[in-house]
Amino acid sequence: MVNYKVADENLAEKGKEALYVAESKMPVTAEIIRKRFSKEKPLKGITIAGCLHITKETGILARTLKAGGAEVYLCGSNPLSTQDDVAAALVQEGINVFAWHGNTDEEFYWCIRECLKAKPNILIDDGADMIVTAHKEFPELIEKGTIIACQEETTTGVKRFKAMNKKGALKVPLFPVNDARCKNQFDNELGTGQGIISAIYGMHVLFAGKNVLIAGFGHCSSGMALRARGLGANVTVTEVDAIKALQAKFAGYNVMPILEAIPDADIILTATGCKHVIPAKTEVFDKLKDNVILGNLGHFDIEIPTKELYEHAKEIKPVRTNVEELIFPNGKKVYLLAKGRLANLVLSEGHPSEVMDMSFALQSLMSEYIVKNKASFKPGMISIPPEIDDKVGYLKLKTMGVKIDKLTDEQYSYIHGYEEGT
Ligand SMILES: NC(=O)c1ccc[n+]([C@@H]2O[C@H](COP(=O)([O-])OP(=O)(O)OC[C@H]3O[C@@H](n4cnc5c(N)ncnc54)[C@H](O)[C@@H]3O)[C@@H](O)[C@H]2O)c1
Repeated sequence: MVNYKVADENLAEKGKEALYVAESKMPVTAEIIRKRFSKEKPLKGITIAGCLHITKETGILARTLKAGGAEVYLCGSNPLSTQDDVAAALVQEGINVFAWHGNTDEEFYWCIRECLKAKPNILIDDGADMIVTAHKEFPELIEKGTIIACQEETTTGVKRFKAMNKKGALKVPLFPVNDARCKNQFDNELGTGQGIISAIYGMHVLFAGKNVLIAGFGHCSSGMALRARGLGANVTVTEVDAIKALQAKFAGYNVMPILEAIPDADIILTATGCKHVIPAKTEVFDKLKDNVILGNLGHFDIEIPTKELYEHAKEIKPVRTNVEELIFPNGKKVYLLAKGRLANLVLSEGHPSEVMDMSFALQSLMSEYIVKNKASFKPGMISIPPEIDDKVGYLKLKTMGVKIDKLTDEQYSYIHGYEEGT
């Protein structure tokens, strides 16, 4: 029996079309790994619960885990990122899905609880909400060893777990998949970079000649800066890390404090994982340029002070799906994307499938690794084995028809030795 609650089961046909498109663009997850999983069934008897953005790419991951023998439960990791058609299609395929677009905070946690009630053995989280809920409300899953290990997909989630671990509060083995090279250097940089451009393009906004302010110069934000510059925008970067700021400066961007940059900015995009990157103050709101576009790409809706902006506005008008015009008391208009939530996921379709192929190949192989090596784990953070990261890289290159060199024995000895010098 499939357990589920989705928006509309009648959307399944449309969801199948979306999944069909993603299949061919994710050959590592959907072909190479799935073919082997179907034969070997490495996940037989295992229940996996994923708190992930319910997109077509996540659907491909779910299919591969199921092909490996797992019982799969899914809930959304953001109230606005669920693609209802994909959710409906997955239910028809026997995936247990509790997710719909636009759920309330209360419903969001209800969905997480429904997944945890299935007594999962592996949790795949995106933002830490499911694993934190397991610690708070389902401690028996941890105490009795039902949960073997967990995986985290995004930077903010990894940061939360590092903080938990430091306090001794992390009681499960946790693999920060986000920290793998095949994840953050491609999914975060390329996915977010292209995703925000396509989200704003949907509003028919020209980037060329615009002043674009990018908060942060990390994986996501540096990708966004590069894409905005490529379209002819004047890009200004704000940072709190001196080295990142230097990298931005030497890459040719303007670098300055955010309060200095705000008055000239036509588009402001945040992806820092930090709170109130635009300070929640009326005098700052008054400095925003008329018609400025505000978009957040960081995991939670706290980087742009959405609540305070809504309170400050004398009128809020929806102008397109998930874009609101806020009219301030002084008559200025501000365009807020996706209510301050992940604009690339809410306004466009999230990251391109090609990029998610690597992230979800990692999640698939890590699930297999967890089952194979479960006896050796202790609670706390455990690094992703480099050989799994490398394997995904090699497989991705193979599917792209790209060959690379291999170290000779002599080269290997040289770069791993110290004897040879001048
Ligand atoms: N939208 C998406 O699809 C998507 C994808 C991946 C990650 N994320 C999320 O995006 C956020 C950033 O992830 P990342 O991998 O780029 O992290 P990162 O650690 O690589 O980069 C964050 C950068 O922001 C800087 N920063 C922190 N506080 C700041 C502030 N107040 N002002 C200016 N700069 C500040 C940091 O110094 C750092 O350089 C996280 O919340 C992550 O979970 C979103």
